[in-house]
Amino acid sequence: MFDAEKFVNEQVGKIAESVKGKAIIACSGGVDSMVAAVLASRAIGDRLLAVYVDSGFMRKGETGEVRGMFESMGLNFKVVDAQDLFFGALEGVTDPEQKRKIIGEKFIRVFEAEAKEFGAEYLVQGTIAPDWIESGDGVRDTIKSHHNVGGLPKDMGMTLCEPLWDLYKDEVRQVARLLGVKASERQPFPGPGLAVRCLGEVTRENIEIVREACFIVEDEIRKAAEAGKMDLPWQYFAALLPSRSVGVQGDRRAYGRTVVIRAVSSTDAMTAEFSKIPIDILDKMSRRITNTMKSQVNRVVYDITNKPPATIEWE
Ligand code: XMP
Repeated sequence: MFDAEKFVNEQVGKIAESVKGKAIIACSGGVDSMVAAVLASRAIGDRLLAVYVDSGFMRKGETGEVRGMFESMGLNFKVVDAQDLFFGALEGVTDPEQKRKIIGEKFIRVFEAEAKEFGAEYLVQGTIAPDWIESGDGVRDTIKSHHNVGGLPKDMGMTLCEPLWDLYKDEVRQVARLLGVKASERQPFPGPGLAVRCLGEVTRENIEIVREACFIVEDEIRKAAEAGKMDLPWQYFAALLPSRSVGVQGDRRAYGRTVVIRAVSSTDAMTAEFSKIPIDILDKMSRRITNTMKSQVNRVVYDITNKPPATIEWE
């Protein structure tokens, strides 16, 4: 049985012992990086700098929420606006692995600049067991090179500190609850963010569509769960397909985009089952998405595949 309190005490002690100078952490506001940041800050205080990089691929309102989280946890933090850098680097890139590698690399370069300025010698990361297992650490073939592992260049010049290395998601959540980390109940969100929910080229317009669609899916499913109409899935979001299909708008033919709704139940993200969402809630989401983005989206589909054979994200 996992003992969260024992884990916290052990890790805070280990970090205090091993991290002698200043450290930096890339903190997306997700449960993994927030827990790693809070553990490290308990161990070394303001010698830790939590850096939030606004890549432009975050969810609606997320940057403000993360800022609030940092403040309430008393972390030493910095918000870096790097949107132009990320959109520029992904111009014309459509391959999912290529996207991850580029995003991972840019993230690290941004951190490196921040780390240099701060004088950090250590890089704290919220890597958890499924991240490295699925990134082909000799355990399984590479499925997806998650950017926080596969995208790491070897010439970083900082010593890694990864306190959550052996943990699975449910254990991280237990630790988060114990530490009072508000992100503890948030659903998982991939490091490359909306860029891997936007199939094909990542443009500002595509990201705006998928951001709004993700917001609608999250909002409707959360409301339905609160009303007792369904269980809250493990993960629920939207993806945008690169293809177009024919539809009608008024009495005219429209050639629009397709949004996919994805909702799954899981315990550790290694396997997942698609959620059996009541049809009236699917209907509501479909109408709201197409009404909100009338001129762009004319089709909404629901993904009814499990993992395996699919993965949770579409890229
Ligand atoms: P898949 O899509 O591989 O996802 O079934 C399993 C879990 O990992 C998340 N995910 C990522 N997390 N960097 C991350 O930090 C990534 O590149 C990445 N890709 C997928 C996904 O949201 C799910 O929770």
